[in-house]
This record gives sequence, structure tokens and C-alpha cells, in this order.
Amino acid sequence: MSVATATAHPNIALVKYWGKRDTALNLPAVPSLSLTLDGFSTTTRVHWGVDVDKVYLQGRPADEDTRRKVLAALDRLDPARPPVRVDSLNDFPAGAGLASSSSGFAALVVAAAAAAERDLPRPELSVHARRGSGSACRSLWGGFVRWNLGESPDGSDSHGEPVAPADHWEVAMVVAIVSGDKKDVASTAGMETSRLTSAYYPAWVAQGPARVAAGVAAVQARDLRALGEQMEASTFEMHAVMHTTQPAILYWKPATVACLHAVRGLRASGTLAYATMDAGPNVKVLCGRADAEAVAEALRAYVSDVRIALPGGAPTVVRG
Ligand code: DP6
Repeated sequence: MSVATATAHPNIALVKYWGKRDTALNLPAVPSLSLTLDGFSTTTRVHWGVDVDKVYLQGRPADEDTRRKVLAALDRLDPARPPVRVDSLNDFPAGAGLASSSSGFAALVVAAAAAAERDLPRPELSVHARRGSGSACRSLWGGFVRWNLGESPDGSDSHGEPVAPADHWEVAMVVAIVSGDKKDVASTAGMETSRLTSAYYPAWVAQGPARVAAGVAAVQARDLRALGEQMEASTFEMHAVMHTTQPAILYWKPATVACLHAVRGLRASGTLAYATMDAGPNVKVLCGRADAEAVAEALRAYVSDVRIALPGGAPTVVRG
């Protein structure tokens, strides 16, 4: 088989990654913890052995930066690779803080290895995904996933690691799509500027391991309040770093803030719901599955496109 198609789900960080200790190897400055989501996916077809390299996103030739990153990921998988054609389709907005790079690079490496008939261990695929985009290393597993810092200088032990499968816990992530527009500061550039200019960055890095340890314990104990508190704290700490970066990185829109207040209102009236944001204006709310519809309804007062996602599974090879 020289052709394979794989589908992967994005993941949303419950404890965030923002900042690198090694930009060349894409090694994080902090560990992180995530939840893989169903309901959103990237499907990527890789065809080894065509006449010339071609990379298509949503049916159109990819922009130069994406093309370079995709081909570099394939070069690392096989330095002697033949020319390749890549076709990738997202069923949700890309580059808008909805973690499209996480599902994108996970689907790419799984499809590329399958098309080459290489049965690589999943941690190794996770390392390949990490080199493409850090958060992607967590999308190699379903459910709750930790990305460890690792110790090896070559980065081979900095990859995702499953904490609990998708069916471990009946939670939901309600996604309020404030805007599907491409963000004006990309994560890679933004987190590097934060490292160089935010006075809060050292405190952020120091805090990371304890937040992940508390988050993992909360997942294992199925303690939504404890997990929600860690997630919100990590979110606001990361955005404080963004806001104190020079020039300031401000992803929030008025509707973002309205959703944050709505979540606090839900909590005040007894619903366990906690908010997170990433590198974009969209708000994701973690809650019990039974409360998801009520949470979505509360957010629809401010945002028209609100979707409910449940814990999702690992990438799958869907066809040759
Ligand atoms: C805010 O994984 O997109 O979503 O490694 O530079 O490609 P690169 O960054 P990326 O950063 C995602 C950061 C985040 C938080 C998170 O997912 O942990």
C-alpha cells in the first residue's frame, strides 16, 4: 500500500502548553494535559510515490508555511522519501484556536506511516507529530492525555502518554465558536515572543508541573470541580502571560468575555461548568455530560455557533 487515509481528533488542553525550551526540536517548557474531542476531525490522505510534492488543504494548495511544515514532517519520517501528495480536510475552522494543528499533524503522521506500511510504536508517532506541532503529540491517543517534558536531549521521550480512555468519565466540552477567523498571532510565534518578553513567563513555567499533577489526580478521581479549577487557573495564567507579552497578545473578543461571565453565572446557580480558551477567542466549557445541553443554551445567548463535543478516541486509519 502506498496510499492511506487517517482520521484524527483535535485535543483541548486542560492544563496548557505555552512556551518552548527548544525551538528546533519543539520541546515544551511546561508539561500539559488534554482531552481529545469527538465531533471534530481532520481526515488526511497520503500518497507516496507521485511525480512531485503536492500538499492540499480543504481542496486547495496549502500556504507556503503549512506546506513547508508538512513536508518537513514527512522528511523526518523518511529522509529518503519519494515525492508525496497530501490531501487534508478539516470539518471545523482551521487556525482559529480550535486546535486544528493537533488533529492535522496527528492524522498526517498516522496516514504517512500506514501508507509506507511502517508499524511505528505510538510514542514514536507522537514524537513525529510533536515536531510538526507540539499539541499534536497529545492527539495520538483518545481521552485524557499527558504530554511529559521528557529528559532526553534528542526529545525522544517528550511525547503524549494516555492517562484515561474516552469512556473513563461522562464529561463534555461545549465549544462556543466566537469566531472562525484565522488568528492574527500564530501560537508558535506568540509563545516565543512570550518567552522573550513577558515578566510573568518564569512564574508560568514554574507553575506547570504542579498544575499537571493536580489535573491528572482530578481526572483519575473523576473530580470535576478540582479539574475545572486547575483548567481555569492554567487558562488564566496562560492568558496573563499572553497579555503581558510585548506587544500584548489579546485573543479575546467581547463575546469571549460574555461567555466567561455566563460560565461563572452557571456555577453560581449550581452547575459545575468551567471555561478554557486557547490561542483564539473561542470558549470551551468543561461540564458533566448531563449538563451539556443547558450549558450550550446559556452560551447561545452570546454566540450563535455552539457545539457539544464528547471525549473522542485515538486516530484511525480509515482506508487505503
Ligand atoms: C494555546 O501546538 O499550536 O493551544 O508547537 O508551536 O505548533 P506549536 O504550538 P501549538 O500550541 C498550542 C498552544 C495552546 C495550548 C495547548 O494546546 O496546550
